[in-house]
Amino acid sequence: MAPGPVAAHDVVIVGGGGAGLRAAIAIAESDPSLSIAIVSKVYPMRSHTVSAEGGAAAVAGDDDTFDEHAYDTVSGSDWLCDQDAVEAFVVEARREMLQLEHWGCPWSRRDDGRIAVRAFGGMKKKRTWFAADKTGFHLLHTLFQTALSYSELVRYDEWFATKLLVDDGKVRGVVAIELATGRTETILAKSVIVCTGGCGRVFPFTTNAAIKTGDGMALAYRAGAALKDMEFVQYHPTGLPFTGILITEATRAEGGWLLNKDGYRYLQDYDLGKPTQEPVLRSMELGPRDRLSQAFVHELEKGRTVETPSGPVVHLDLRHLGEDLINLKLPFVRELCTNYQNIDPVHELIPVRPVVHYMMGGIHTDINGYTGMPGLYAAGEVACVSINGANRLGSNSLPELLVFGARAGAAAAEYVHTQGSSGPGSATAAVEAQGRDEQQRLERELAARQEPSKYRIADIRVAMQDTMEAGAGIYRDEASMRTAADRLKELREQFGHAGIDDHSRTFNTDLIASLELDGMLDVAECIVASALRREESRGAHQRTDYPKRDDERYLAHSVVNLDSDGPRVSYQPVTITRWPPAERVYGR
Ligand code: FUM
Repeated sequence: MAPGPVAAHDVVIVGGGGAGLRAAIAIAESDPSLSIAIVSKVYPMRSHTVSAEGGAAAVAGDDDTFDEHAYDTVSGSDWLCDQDAVEAFVVEARREMLQLEHWGCPWSRRDDGRIAVRAFGGMKKKRTWFAADKTGFHLLHTLFQTALSYSELVRYDEWFATKLLVDDGKVRGVVAIELATGRTETILAKSVIVCTGGCGRVFPFTTNAAIKTGDGMALAYRAGAALKDMEFVQYHPTGLPFTGILITEATRAEGGWLLNKDGYRYLQDYDLGKPTQEPVLRSMELGPRDRLSQAFVHELEKGRTVETPSGPVVHLDLRHLGEDLINLKLPFVRELCTNYQNIDPVHELIPVRPVVHYMMGGIHTDINGYTGMPGLYAAGEVACVSINGANRLGSNSLPELLVFGARAGAAAAEYVHTQGSSGPGSATAAVEAQGRDEQQRLERELAARQEPSKYRIADIRVAMQDTMEAGAGIYRDEASMRTAADRLKELREQFGHAGIDDHSRTFNTDLIASLELDGMLDVAECIVASALRREESRGAHQRTDYPKRDDERYLAHSVVNLDSDGPRVSYQPVTITRWPPAERVYGR
């Protein structure tokens, strides 16, 4: 990699999706004199936020309360969230949604002009704001156009951050590669906010875009930050087979049914209520995602799923909703089904199966996005605040990235003011040396991977993904996870010798894939290590060898740090404010 000059800003945000843009706006609003940089692997409008479909939850009307939103979130999380964070979240979520409205987000409306809301899984009120079924696109667009009005914001589009610079325990910037040229640059900062999204690509079948490779989690973990609750991986119950494309929960909110191979609404067999014609909140198809995905596995075991060339599926039936409703409220679903599955949901059943969708775990932060490492903040899916605990409720993630993106931005700006002299971050000798070392490491990386090798990056990535699905999928046990842990070690060994085919410097996606895989192997190892230690079943973490929730031992966050011999797992208390642990009850 050709070393470039050193740049400097007050705050560097890694990741240009919803959380990153919201953080940037918060910083610019709090102090227009601060210089802000966004370093993003993709052009911001290509960030994964764009593909969010169904909506964003926040109390909208008089028939709903903050307490109810909080309680649904707490029970949905199987009591593993931090309730102080949830209490702040529900209040600020509403403010953020109104703020977006003022910035131009075209929320769908009722006939009388008020904001339209729809039901979502596990919520006892209709509180999901939406823009048809392209909510993420409109939300991201609104944030992007708002961010464009701040001239103090410098964008490094299509730059890949490879290292956090740390001196004397403080984060002081990043090293990044410009994809177009292969040039590396040390980008100094007084504070860094990581907003790179989740890591669904650690698994083989996911709704996540190819860019969601857990880069920020790996960056922070290697720099000394902790990852929290990494064992909690959310499967969304309705992905298209083969592609994994999300078919939004909004289909079920509008009245869609899940049918097994006999045309039977099988969720009635899983303690999720009885079938009705109209959707009932927190019941049947509007149950929480963990329970619905687990029900699919049981249907599969009972031989009641449908075999397809892309594996077993159940059917999502929208036919009774009618063409007008589908065109008005679910146009994107119709488009996706037509283009990617060659079926029209107005007339045909949609084949669906559970698909990895979201990481409840991530970089440990407090309620202001602070990671515990001076200067380092995180927000959005990459972070674990935690409001999601063991299972996130659908439509809580868009407001989460707004609320905690804004909080992280404000906190980072405040931190910058405590860091002495004005002007952007400056280099200490140690930071300069780290920048040089990283540039040399990348240079060696490119050279070494040109050696002939029988190991290929793509093969190792596929093997890792299959290992994770087999060992740490919807159901796990000690044996499956030990096998996965051993296999990941072998793959790490192979990775050390793997070659790449592209030896150029211009848009070398082969090299980037190798750097991404390096991080993904770390993240995968953390997921398995955390899951092995948690000897109970809670939310999305279901162990067949420990089928019960165990509040005595595990009403606690797992925290994983990088030790010299790999991940070290410990526990931190969960914050309970007003809702003591109870049974999760749906359908009644
Ligand atoms: O189903 C969906 O539209 C997904 C929403 C979410 O994950 O929040």
